[in-house]
Amino acid sequence: MPAIVLIGAQWGDEGKGKATDLLGSRVDYVVKFNGGNNAGHTVVIGTEKYALHLLPSGILTPGVTPIIANGVVVDIEVLFEELDALISRGVDVSKLRVSANAHVITQYHRTVDKVTERFLGKRQIGTTGRGIGPTYADKINRVGIRVQDLFDENILRQKVEGALDQKNHLLVKVYNRRAISVDEIVDDLLSYAERLRPMVADTALLLHEALTEGKTVLFEGGQATMLDVDHGTYPFVTSSNATSGGAVTGSGIGPNRIDRIIAVVKAYTTRVGAGPFPTELFDESGEFLRANGFEFGTTTGRPRRCGWYDAPVARYTARINGVTDFVLTKLDVLTGLDVIPVCVAYSVDGVRYDEVPVSQSDFHHAKPIFEDFPGWSEDITGARTFEDLPRAAQDYVLAIEKMSGARISAIGVGPGREAIISRHDLID
Ligand code: GDP
Ligand code: IMO
Ligand code: MG
Repeated sequence: MPAIVLIGAQWGDEGKGKATDLLGSRVDYVVKFNGGNNAGHTVVIGTEKYALHLLPSGILTPGVTPIIANGVVVDIEVLFEELDALISRGVDVSKLRVSANAHVITQYHRTVDKVTERFLGKRQIGTTGRGIGPTYADKINRVGIRVQDLFDENILRQKVEGALDQKNHLLVKVYNRRAISVDEIVDDLLSYAERLRPMVADTALLLHEALTEGKTVLFEGGQATMLDVDHGTYPFVTSSNATSGGAVTGSGIGPNRIDRIIAVVKAYTTRVGAGPFPTELFDESGEFLRANGFEFGTTTGRPRRCGWYDAPVARYTARINGVTDFVLTKLDVLTGLDVIPVCVAYSVDGVRYDEVPVSQSDFHHAKPIFEDFPGWSEDITGARTFEDLPRAAQDYVLAIEKMSGARISAIGVGPGREAIISRHDLID
């Protein structure tokens, strides 16, 4: 029985929520190991549509134990809101466990996120404004508040005092905002403690025991490889490790326990927020992808930037994460195009790059070198085997598989749970 890591291959919103849901009933535990409520996963089950942010998508599968692990940053108010929304729709959330070591997003983190973005002006990252970056900064700076601190008022107060000491200077003197009082933060956090207490656990130990007993554990990454703080398009990234390594540090299991690494990749590319994006389209083709793919953010509602499939990015993802399988999503969105260009390499000031360049400036200036593939016009949303796809769609999948560094084991042909073609079993 395996431990499986599932991550995003591009800049997020690849359809990780749907892919997780797909594995659903065969999984015993589903673990969120990085990020927070900056994520937005849409899962469509029959006529019901669920938008999840902080909770792992696997929470929708009956019988699964969802875990929010130590690598996550938790906005407790949002946690309760999301839980209540699911409870009111009849979802059983009683098995959720939250790591005592996860860091807590507070009001001052959200405030600092918003004011720093404003002060960056045209160098803005375009964050989700949820306080993610400042909370991870406090964690690394060793002035963070952890879930376990909520159960010792004395310690909590000392830690909040320590954190606010610096931040109030910054807020008042640099950003011209009001100071935040220790009491308002402490009272706010303490008000959540009793409801949270039964959910809090040593999740690293729990996962160790589960894996030892032979349970199937799915580690569900938020964000994506190109948004990873180490391996993404820094500084236009999120503040956590969204790559497969993050599943290890973010949950407390050993790397040798992981059996499968699945990357979810869209049949084209999208990005939300600022930063380099070589295949980005500014013409009607981009509009076609945005309209057909409903490319608007699940978290912020922002229109997503759209572009063609970038094979060097997929290859980079395969390499950085040790990908064993790709799940290719949204192939149906390409239906109706006469020609589908795929980026096979880049040109930077006349020099050809077959791989993602290590220099940030080079990647900013990278111009895609495209190879064109014939499109198809048949509706493919009902296809359930590879052979059901029109020849041109099959050829497109086989061509990008060859360029991308790992096999394509499943293909999404629509938003619904059933709209999937399976080529290789993802759990064995
Ligand atoms: P995530 O953040 O990676 O979980 O992805 P999002 O949920 O933010 O965005 C993916 C969107 O694509 C969601 O609205 C899904 O319902 C939808 N989706 C997922 N797979 C497919 C697919 O194969 N075809 C189509 N048309 N939509 C899909
Ligand atoms: P899922 O899990 C797409 C982007 C933001 C911004 C940058 C930093 O749904 O794929 P942050 O608030 O994290 O400090 O913002 O990262 N970003 C995402 N883009 N999908 C996401 O999550 C994202 N989470 C963060 O738009 O550019
Ligand atoms: Mg998303």
